[in-house]
Amino acid sequence: MIDSNFNNKEMNKACIFDLDGVIVDTAKYHFVAWRNLANSLGFDFTEKDNEKLKGVSRIDSLNLILEWGGMNFSDKIKTDLTVQKNEDYLTYIQKMNESEILPNVVEILKQVKKKSNYKIGLGSASKNAKLILEQVGLIKYFDFIVDGSMVTNGKPHPEGFLLAASEMDVLPENCIVFEDAPKGVEAALAAKMFAVGIGSEEDLGDAHLVMSDFSKTTFEEIEEKLLAVV
Ligand code: BG6
Ligand code: MG
Repeated sequence: MIDSNFNNKEMNKACIFDLDGVIVDTAKYHFVAWRNLANSLGFDFTEKDNEKLKGVSRIDSLNLILEWGGMNFSDKIKTDLTVQKNEDYLTYIQKMNESEILPNVVEILKQVKKKSNYKIGLGSASKNAKLILEQVGLIKYFDFIVDGSMVTNGKPHPEGFLLAASEMDVLPENCIVFEDAPKGVEAALAAKMFAVGIGSEEDLGDAHLVMSDFSKTTFEEIEEKLLAVV
């Protein structure tokens, strides 16, 4: 239900957050679980290789890892391998709590929540997104959640971000996307949204604005900086 302060589509705005690497640092758990799988198949890969899996869907991640190991399997076996990896990954996720929320994220969510013309969305490639948000106690902040089970095309395709915007009744040009993956920044730009990169200028330089994390900023400052670049 859209409230009375949020009934003019031209004025509606939204923040759309990526999850892994923006709200919580789950990359380390993905790494351990994928590495366990690779090791069980007789090969290994590095943390640097793992960087290439950020923002990449579960099945595309498996395909990349198998390529690194010089292996290939039938679709049926690949499905079994993704199930095996996810079961392992979930053992780490189920132990997560609010202490694993990245610095100042809760403050930023609260500041956006106070603005009556702003909605808050999630645009994640992860099929575990809702579970993770529940686990760390942040699900209540979100007006609409797009997870990996709701899109046909993964990032850098803009489908997920555009779905979040349309479900929240916000025009793409009024959305600010927060992303840690180069593919996610690409997806936000393809959606004609503002892109804020969370990470290094080197990796995310195409974004409208890049911050190492949320720790030294407020949402007002982010808005001001974005206004200055357009
Ligand atoms: C993205 C992560 O958010 O979700 C990727 O950056 C991950 O590393 C992808 O592969 C899919 O996650 P899940 O939880 O559906 O396996
Ligand atoms: Mg991410």
